[in-house]
Amino acid sequence: MSEKTVIGFDIPIDEETTMSMLNSDPATVYRRLRQRTPIVRLEAIGRIVFTKADDVRRVKMDTEHFGSNDVTTPMQRAFGGHTLMRKDGCEHVREREAMKGTFEPSCLSSYWKSEFEYLADELLDELATNKTVDLLTAFAQPLSARYLKKVLGIQDVSDEQLFSWATALITGAMNTSLDKKIFNMSDKKNKEMNTCFDQLIANKNKNMDYSVLSTMLSHTHPIEVSQIRTNMKICIGGAVIETRDALLSTLYGLLSQPKQIQYCIDQNDWTGACAEGLRWVAPIQASPRIVKKSLIMRGMLIPKGETVMAIQASANHDEEIWENPHLFDVRRKPEDNQTFGDGPHKCLGGDMYRMLIGQVVIPKLFARFPALSLKNKNLVDFKGFAFRGPTSLFVSLV
Ligand code: HEM
Repeated sequence: MSEKTVIGFDIPIDEETTMSMLNSDPATVYRRLRQRTPIVRLEAIGRIVFTKADDVRRVKMDTEHFGSNDVTTPMQRAFGGHTLMRKDGCEHVREREAMKGTFEPSCLSSYWKSEFEYLADELLDELATNKTVDLLTAFAQPLSARYLKKVLGIQDVSDEQLFSWATALITGAMNTSLDKKIFNMSDKKNKEMNTCFDQLIANKNKNMDYSVLSTMLSHTHPIEVSQIRTNMKICIGGAVIETRDALLSTLYGLLSQPKQIQYCIDQNDWTGACAEGLRWVAPIQASPRIVKKSLIMRGMLIPKGETVMAIQASANHDEEIWENPHLFDVRRKPEDNQTFGDGPHKCLGGDMYRMLIGQVVIPKLFARFPALSLKNKNLVDFKGFAFRGPTSLFVSLV
């Protein structure tokens, strides 16, 4: 039977926005789009984008019209296979279930919290040997690499190697021009990752713990080795750089408004600061979906077969929900931000990140360095369209 005909207006085309605007100041671009053309085809990226919070959520939740299984994107080549993040329905649920145990609330509180506390103390001891540092290289980067190595069960990998893997995966996934050099580099890194995972899998009975790798290997219905590999890569490509960036954005927000630090100390609660940092600058700014069935949104025809982008960074600044969204303010009433996505693919690591940063790392950092302050507030730059965070964060510790 043929699909019902859907009639709507053509989607407007935006030729004003450039790649450079999206990299340097996406918030200003999205503000304009939310006001004038909330659903629009952006010439600069060749995609239809959704910028209003309701629409972004719908794209993630409405699985009848929007799917993740888009084999036309460079992601499959970049990750050396089809990951759970780009699968739909039962196939997706099966792979998600296989790693869920590591992220269960009981596992977070009974196992991971004390592991993270130990790790944070160790890194703060290292930091205390300095007076001024770039928190990116001296703290956020090693913290992100070291907690994720434990969580994934790959402790023998060096911090540098883990970052080089994450960078290769992300760069490969964004390689829409199918540049051979970029794919050669991601192929090389894929080989390194596969060798590492395969060695651990071969020795699996020796090192079983609560890590993602152990959880997948000991699951009652284990998934194929090919899927264990690609889904480990999702946790690398989607968490290493993002944890670093989210932590740095939050610290920058706090340090540029010291009264808010005092507020958190007085409340003895940093969860609002953690949530506000995630809202303020989403480390993953946008997520793609493929249109499975044509539909009308805001009177416009969204045609079947299009790859569209749901801009969670813009949803988090929607003026209908957030007052003065450009300002960092830990006292906002808790509203759901969309930094971790929504619907069936909602981030599995969101609660873990919030526990690590909101309950362990930030409280310990300000307790250990009460005089922590920005070296030069005007020198903090943010970069990135798809992935975004500060390029450095120079501080005085004493
Ligand atoms: C600040 C840090 C993080 C951010 C901003 C982030 C963001 C996201 C987003 C936006 C998605 C959904 C993508 C989509 O809808 O297409 C996602 C999915 C996912 N994330 Fe995260 N994430 C973070 C940390 C983590 C951590 C720590 C882990 C695990 C160690 C993790 C594992 C995953 C996995 C496995 C998925 C795929 C879920 C699925 O497809 O069912 N993430 N993440």
